[in-house]
Amino acid sequence: MIHESIYVLDFGSQYSHLIVRRIRELGVHAELVPFNTPLKKLSACRGIILSGGPQSVTGQGALLVDRAVFALGIPILGVCYGLQLIAYLNGGKVSTSQKKEYGPTRIRISKKTGIFKGLKIDQLTWMSHGDKVTKLPKGYKTLASSNNCRYAAIANYQKRIFGLQFHPEVSNTTNGQKMIANFIKLTGVKHIWTTGKFINNKIDEIKKIVGKDQVVCALSGGVDSSVAATIVHKAIGSQLTCIYVDTGLMRHGESEQVIKTFRKYQRINLKVIKAKAQFLRKLKGVTDPEKKRKIIGELFIRIFENEAKKIGKIKWLVQGTLYTDVITSGISVGKTAAVIKSHHNVGGLPKKFGFKLIEPWRDLYKDEVRKVGRLLKLPTEVTARQPFPGPGLAVRIIGEVTEKKLAIVRSADWIVREEIEKSGLHKNIQQYFAVLPTIKSVGVQGDNRTYGYPIIIRAVTTKDFMTADWAKIPHDLMAKISVRITNEVREVNRVLYDITSKPPGTVEWE
Ligand code: XMP
Repeated sequence: MIHESIYVLDFGSQYSHLIVRRIRELGVHAELVPFNTPLKKLSACRGIILSGGPQSVTGQGALLVDRAVFALGIPILGVCYGLQLIAYLNGGKVSTSQKKEYGPTRIRISKKTGIFKGLKIDQLTWMSHGDKVTKLPKGYKTLASSNNCRYAAIANYQKRIFGLQFHPEVSNTTNGQKMIANFIKLTGVKHIWTTGKFINNKIDEIKKIVGKDQVVCALSGGVDSSVAATIVHKAIGSQLTCIYVDTGLMRHGESEQVIKTFRKYQRINLKVIKAKAQFLRKLKGVTDPEKKRKIIGELFIRIFENEAKKIGKIKWLVQGTLYTDVITSGISVGKTAAVIKSHHNVGGLPKKFGFKLIEPWRDLYKDEVRKVGRLLKLPTEVTARQPFPGPGLAVRIIGEVTEKKLAIVRSADWIVREEIEKSGLHKNIQQYFAVLPTIKSVGVQGDNRTYGYPIIIRAVTTKDFMTADWAKIPHDLMAKISVRITNEVREVNRVLYDITSKPPGTVEWE
């Protein structure tokens, strides 16, 4: 339980998350909570931020906050829709504006105190609103205006309530982080959110809850489960057993890496189950991507369950659930998402096992987990590992998965990875890999006609993998990769580059 926290009330803005991130970057703990969080819970925090949102505060079914929140005596900052809520619920007026304001907007600060302390009068901000405040509530003052918005920033100093019509959390607001820092200062919250402290607290907490019980962890080689296994091992040592199911669908060198990192260097109890033959048998003749995912997921769980039973009486299961997983499954406001792909995440084992869960990352974002991993001295291959789907190379081979095709895509993938990492571009490209389609084409190699497979290279830049852009890899690097693949992977006589963003494509081909 973290006592010194800032709560960000989520009214559905695409930037709500970003506010939490910005506060954590300041070394302060922050949580995204639903807009209708009960007052009793809210009264326990040190500061409240009302996020932006797509609605109109005066519209039908608008998401509102309990008016009593303004009487709690806790400092409040309203952002965009949040500012309009402050005005509307305290007796001011909000109207739909003829002129909408989107994008970069200059504001002029009239009071350089409170949230604007230490800033110049002229500031570049990012606006995105149709409605605007047209009358201030009693007790409120204007702090800044833009050409089109008289109340670009407002405050009730006595109550320590502030409102910004623009978004300080986006980088386009040049001094947004300074404004957030000023608000945080006003709350008096302690700056305690450091990764080092987090690790020590987590180790103590795991020791306490686990006692003398046995714990099991499904290692996938990915960042979340690897770092989770490491921290749990630091807490309870040999009471932890990790199980790594080698599906035969992993990339080049991956299984060896897991064994080296965990068994050899960390001396963690690690059971490696070689199950390639079982997976290939089950996948024989299967071409439908969703069927492949299901088969792999189910077989993985069966094998894991069998192995866990052999260890004896296990009470706890370690899972790498992230803060983003918690939020997307729990509190997002009125969002529904179509199932594009049924993601089999090897960490996501069903509840029916009856294990209690240890989820060390429930409060963290992925890059924070990477940081924990670095502090725990895990190798870069683990902490900087790009995401890799649970069903592995099976979803990077279009159609039936065979041992031969696995070998082709694995070799090509290794070349793509090696060359992109050698060039240093991997720091800016979030995922890069090879895909093997079913088609073949004619080519000429040496003096011979060939009839071989093409390899498709996929490389994307993305912030959150919900949307992505294809990476603009320099042509000479593409040429190098192409030559290497056609020279080194005998079955391949052509290399293609995927220039599709997401949407309309997805990152993976299946
Ligand atoms: P898509 O292809 O949906 O991928 O745009 C977005 C991100 O999710 C990863 N991905 C998966 N991860 N099981 C996983 O654990 C899966 O079945 C799966 N399919 C896609 C993908 O690699 C990308 O990072």
